[in-house]
Amino acid sequence: MKFFIDTANLDQIREAYDLGVLDGVTTNPSLMAKEGIKGKDAVLKHYVDICEIAKGGDVSAEVISTDYEGMIREGEELAELHPQIVVKIPMIKDGVKAIRYFSNKGIKTNCTLVFSAGQALLAAKAGATYVSPFIGRLDDISFDGLELIDQIVHIYQEYGYETQVLAASVRHTMHIIKCAELGADVVTTPLQPILDLLKHPLTDSGLAKFLSDAQKFA
Ligand code: G3P
Repeated sequence: MKFFIDTANLDQIREAYDLGVLDGVTTNPSLMAKEGIKGKDAVLKHYVDICEIAKGGDVSAEVISTDYEGMIREGEELAELHPQIVVKIPMIKDGVKAIRYFSNKGIKTNCTLVFSAGQALLAAKAGATYVSPFIGRLDDISFDGLELIDQIVHIYQEYGYETQVLAASVRHTMHIIKCAELGADVVTTPLQPILDLLKHPLTDSGLAKFLSDAQKFA
């Protein structure tokens, strides 16, 4: 399972990459705004900066147009920025058409804001590289986000769709572990849940004992 980091914060992307276990980055307009990036040139430069930190990894950059022509124009500009850019497109009618357009041109896409198996089926039919079901936001409204991952993985396997299931809106370690059990291709998560995977009290107490015993023969 691939690990992507879900942030536009360059320090956090650097820290995650330094761990040596990261495969890519996802961003969205809210995450970009959180970093205080203003103006088109600054936004485009920020995507390039992210690509340079995330060497070789896929970097999702989201279009903000909601009409087909606008999404094509924006997506082409984003794709030309850097070979690692994946054009992130919302699951709406014109978005599905835009995904098909980019898929025919060999440009990678990430279909975002997916909340149902039906939407995931459309994304795969349109040739999306990634589909992003938002599991945390489903949990927030008392729907089981992980159940959706299970459903989509099953449907894609059944028909051999190549679209990769990218679990998004991942909030904690159990989301990550359960996604791995269910066969998600990718999880994208903020930095903290990745760091939280490191934690175990028996690791800490075991290491403390090894280090104190090591003093005996130092
Ligand atoms: O990848 C989508 C993600 O950024 C949404 O996360 O926590 O805002 O639901 P969240």
